[in-house]
Amino acid sequence: MNYTLMHKNIPVMDLMIDEITGSIRKSGTLYNPEHLPVAVGYKKGIVDRAALNEWWTDRSIPASRSGVKEALETLNVPNTKLLISRCYGLSLSDQYWVKPQNADLEWESINFFDNPFSEDIGDVLLGKPKKELDFDFSSPDNTSDGFLKKRWKIINGKRCLVKSGSPPFMQQPFNEVIASIIMRALNVNHVDYTLIWDEETPFSVCEDFINPDTELVSAWRIMQSVKKDNNTSIYQHYINCCEAIGIDDIRQRLNEMIVVDFLIANEDRHQNNFGLLRNAETLEWIGTAPIFDSGSSLGYDKLTNQIKSGKNLICKPFKKTHEEQLKLVTALDWIDFDKLRACEDEIRELLSQSGDYLDDERREAIIQSINSRIDIIESLSYTMYNYSDNIENDVDEDTAEDYTSEMKL
Ligand SMILES: Nc1ncnc2c1ncn2[C@@H]1O[C@H](COP(=O)(O)OP(=O)(O)OP(=O)(O)O)[C@@H](O)[C@H]1O
Ligand SMILES: [Mg+2]
Repeated sequence: MNYTLMHKNIPVMDLMIDEITGSIRKSGTLYNPEHLPVAVGYKKGIVDRAALNEWWTDRSIPASRSGVKEALETLNVPNTKLLISRCYGLSLSDQYWVKPQNADLEWESINFFDNPFSEDIGDVLLGKPKKELDFDFSSPDNTSDGFLKKRWKIINGKRCLVKSGSPPFMQQPFNEVIASIIMRALNVNHVDYTLIWDEETPFSVCEDFINPDTELVSAWRIMQSVKKDNNTSIYQHYINCCEAIGIDDIRQRLNEMIVVDFLIANEDRHQNNFGLLRNAETLEWIGTAPIFDSGSSLGYDKLTNQIKSGKNLICKPFKKTHEEQLKLVTALDWIDFDKLRACEDEIRELLSQSGDYLDDERREAIIQSINSRIDIIESLSYTMYNYSDNIENDVDEDTAEDYTSEMKL
């Protein structure tokens, strides 16, 4: 079937989607190349179809999503790519969609930011049976990324992402809230997560941080858009890419992310778990996205003794170990250690709500692991040369030698 790829109401290009596989089979006229998804290139008006298909596949629910095989069986749909066009490819994280050719549709009347959406797909993704009558596929759940079971839900008029944990500890929703508590204390721009229970299962809930004007572009896409030479580190490459498009505070924003990830022993800050925001219409870059998805941390899938030992932690996105990654941090003088330590009570209170999932020993191990990481950062802050510029030792004005008379000679 033939579609036009749209960016809000801006036509980007024509394409043909294979009804059997859900892949993009042909790319047609390119109307607005600057509105192509970041890192999808084109030459002489022809779009790189492999890159476009990669973007399209990334837009579908990943095959690795917990419970997706069962959901597809329930829906009787062979793969998740076939679900994308069932909601015109609309998402709550960006402003792309596909318009069937000759259809008289406007972005205003179909986008999920301003219009309601069905709960049917979300129900199935969370393991509920398929509604027999009037099943409605129009939902941003068809285009949501990530491993964990999740669904979008309108709660008190706000678009919220409701996200599960993984058995047996179901620790990720608790970790998301702990990370929020820590980032609040550090004054770091973040997505606030709260805890809810549904049928004795814990979930984290956060509001959509994208609005009808903005969109999230992952660090992965930013980094793919410029070729990295072999002598440039991933960190430096990202800094270079960001500075080239005017994100001048990128170093400090990364300082914050790296410190937070160290404190919570985050094992999954991959390149799609952070990024930048841009205006979807003007394409103007706004800045870094608030920090989100911090749940795969604090030994979420490990035994209590392993949380205590703190060994063998995976580190992403820049270095292989958290210790190495911490060396990239250029300043620690923004950290209020008293405020940070004062988080303990709130974290303890949160963990006390974990019922049978996290026993006393595990909760205490989580708290102590955070405390010992705060100690490490604090002692590093004493030894690290924290230079903050001021005018105290600036060169005085007018002290330059006056050579004008000599020059005249
Ligand atoms: N609050 C939000 N507002 C807008 N988009 C969001 C929000 N939270 C997440 N997203 C988008 O949804 C995707 C999946 O969410 P998230 O990363 O939280 O899921 P996950 O299952 O924990 O992912 P992972 O596979 O990295 O563990 C994100 O990569 C991002 O594109
Ligand atoms: Mg994620």
